[in-house]
Amino acid sequence: MAFQTLIVDIQDGVQLITLNRPEKLNALNAELLAELCEALEEADANDKVRCIVISGSDKAFAAGADISEMAGKSMVEMMTANLFARVTARITAIRKPIIAAVCGYALGGGCELAMMCDFIIASETAKFGQPEINLGVIAGMGGTQRLARFVGKAKAMDMNLTGRFMDAKEAEHCGLVSRIVPAKKVREEALAAAGKIAEKGRLAAQAAKQAVNSAFETPLAEGLAIERHLFHALFATDDQKEGMAAFIESREPQFRDR
Ligand code: COA
Repeated sequence: MAFQTLIVDIQDGVQLITLNRPEKLNALNAELLAELCEALEEADANDKVRCIVISGSDKAFAAGADISEMAGKSMVEMMTANLFARVTARITAIRKPIIAAVCGYALGGGCELAMMCDFIIASETAKFGQPEINLGVIAGMGGTQRLARFVGKAKAMDMNLTGRFMDAKEAEHCGLVSRIVPAKKVREEALAAAGKIAEKGRLAAQAAKQAVNSAFETPLAEGLAIERHLFHALFATDDQKEGMAAFIESREPQFRDR
């Protein structure tokens, strides 16, 4: 499908989705969010795609939900459309791993979108923030909840109450991002990481994603039970037999997603 606000490219099992409203710092308007959900769902259903990377421009991953689109809305309109709840549900239902490659601003909805991905690779220029308080509102796509779970209460409160931005170093230090790379290398590094994931068996990769994500949704005992169930279930797959046989025979495994 052709998109107006995204550039989509598939190479070697990796789908790169580039947010493409650079003149508005990739502000997330309804059209972009609808297209992003479409693109992710297409990737999830496409057998040629094994891992997904979401990226923005050099200046902005995304500078938040589109303020001009929201500014005149009433409470009733916001509640009736319930746009962010629907978008969040669709993005977090994607089963294939998603990496956020963040250069520049990841603010408000941009930070929340990055946090909905499975991990974040950031450039040295990345800046994260939940500055909605400056607009007289609060985060509406997980910026109080995911941020608190990922970086703890102190920093989540600081970010949501003061609206300050966090640079890449601080974000890595507190566990929001997994790696920092020079700005010119961020897409390359994210695509390389996605390429590594694309080499794994899809069933195990999806199980790993589901298991880690359940750490943020469940009490420990329940999360451990989910992990164990998925671990045991993978023994019903050909990929487990192949992966372990390949190790014993000192060769590379040939996973077939079965
Ligand atoms: N929604 C709508 N438009 C946005 C936007 C947003 N969240 N963020 C940036 N833009 C637009 C600007 O209005 C401007 O458009 P214009 O050229 O038609 O005037 C364009 O993107 C460039 O932004 P600008 O503010 O001129 O860039 P800057 O380098 O001076 O500042 C930011 C960059 C990110 C600090 C600033 O744009 C900003 O604070 N954006 C809003 C961040 C925010 O509050 N996000 C949470 C939203 S809920």
